[in-house]
Amino acid sequence: MTVSIRVLFAASEVYPLVKTGGLGDVGYSLPHALHRAGADVRLVLPAYRTVLAQVENIRILGWLEVRGAKRTHSVRILEVRHPDFAFPLWLVDCQVLFDRPGNPYVRADGQDWPDNAERFTVFARAVTDLARDVLGIHWQADVVHANDWQTGLVPALLGEFPHPPKRIFTIHNMAYGGHFSLADFNRLALPLHWWTHEGVEFYGGFSMLKAGIVYADEVTTVSPTYAREICTSEFGYGLHGVLQVYRHKLHGILNGIDEAVWDPATDAYLPAHYSANRRQPGKALNKQALLARFGMATDDLAMQVPLFGMVSRLVQQKGLDLVLAALPHWLAHTDARFVFVGSGDSKYEASLCEFAVGYPHRIGVCIGYDEALAHLVEAGSDLFLMPSQFEPCGLNQMYSLRYGTPPVVYRTGGLADTVIDASMEHQTQGIANGFVFDKFDVETLIATVERAIACYDQPRLWQALLRTGMKHSFGWEHSAQSYLALYRATSSK
Ligand code: ADP
Ligand code: GLC
Repeated sequence: MTVSIRVLFAASEVYPLVKTGGLGDVGYSLPHALHRAGADVRLVLPAYRTVLAQVENIRILGWLEVRGAKRTHSVRILEVRHPDFAFPLWLVDCQVLFDRPGNPYVRADGQDWPDNAERFTVFARAVTDLARDVLGIHWQADVVHANDWQTGLVPALLGEFPHPPKRIFTIHNMAYGGHFSLADFNRLALPLHWWTHEGVEFYGGFSMLKAGIVYADEVTTVSPTYAREICTSEFGYGLHGVLQVYRHKLHGILNGIDEAVWDPATDAYLPAHYSANRRQPGKALNKQALLARFGMATDDLAMQVPLFGMVSRLVQQKGLDLVLAALPHWLAHTDARFVFVGSGDSKYEASLCEFAVGYPHRIGVCIGYDEALAHLVEAGSDLFLMPSQFEPCGLNQMYSLRYGTPPVVYRTGGLADTVIDASMEHQTQGIANGFVFDKFDVETLIATVERAIACYDQPRLWQALLRTGMKHSFGWEHSAQSYLALYRATSSK
């Protein structure tokens, strides 16, 4: 009998318990893909208030004494059996740090929680203890897979012990570095020998993201193109030099999507179902429901003209400046309608709301986080707008492809790796699935949307495009095997 590889997967977000973006989706779907591939998985995340409110079947695994900022916390480790998870969840329960309302990283006013350095150091220390079976439960990790800056200290902390498990660190977004001060570093009593240019020091403070990059055995990021991009100053957020040094252990592995959660043939959030081979009437019924949801007309004309959808964190990364600058042109020169679902920077929220008030028949806006509506936008729109300035992987464009809603994207990161432009050549080859532009400016976005509308107006071309996108498999199987191969490979350090 072969013994399964034991993987401790650490993330600060896990769908459906807590999610602010794609990390939450991956925190759910990748461990499941690893489990399906035979790994013995434990998934560990902080016991935020919102998570505790959603779980039953809790067992106390034990208590850990964990060093925080000039104090020691008694941390409870809870094991949860949850119907949506095929393996046990471990929750790091430290009330003073995690039992708070709302978002995992920011307060209601949008400012970071002031003690984030302590919160995620305590989380990382608890993960390290669990990996080493400090609780004595006879489960010791062969591999610890840490994700993003919130778990960046895990590889570094594990390196303080002899014979650590294999340490994998995945970068989901270089824009979020987990940067903190020297004072935090001292208060947290982090090992002084880390404080070097080659260690965690970063412009006078320290970076948890850098810690993950430097001390992990293997570093991955979520698409091959982004793996190349982050080694350049344009995308590296000051860490491109470090990434160049560690190029030999950096791998781009494309995210998959959960094809059970995101399936237009079974999606419980949709009023009507459809599939690649039987798109109507389901797709049109979703469009109608989406228009109605925003109080927009659902007459023949409204059903004929293209409807663009966008679901996004409203931050600069997502190309909102381009979209807002292009909207007046689209309102004046096309019949298209638009729906936006998102939350984030208040300036983007306010501008979108102004458009919705000025053009209620053409533009629908929902500010907030709404999982059900996100699914309806993917299904009910004709085209999906995702002109991100950079995009490590992006999941929304894959959801939209699967839902027969061709995306309009800028050629960057994972968007470049998943969307194939509807050029004449690609159409002839039968591989086109969306619209890709190469120059990040308003004129080029406008020209690309014009091209997309022209294609929408040619039913045969349009249906071929939809079919290609819907039939492609974006599942995790292949990428899960790539991770397992990395877990098993001899370290390239
Ligand atoms: P990112 O992780 O950078 O936000 P991704 O495309 O990888 O981008 O993933 C975004 C995920 O978050 C998708 O599942 C998307 O549907 C979801 N999402 C983003 N904003 C909202 C929102 N306002 N309401 C519901 N879901 C949202
Ligand atoms: C980040 C990135 C996004 C990626 C997601 C999951 O939030 O911005 O591109 O898809 O992580 O890896």
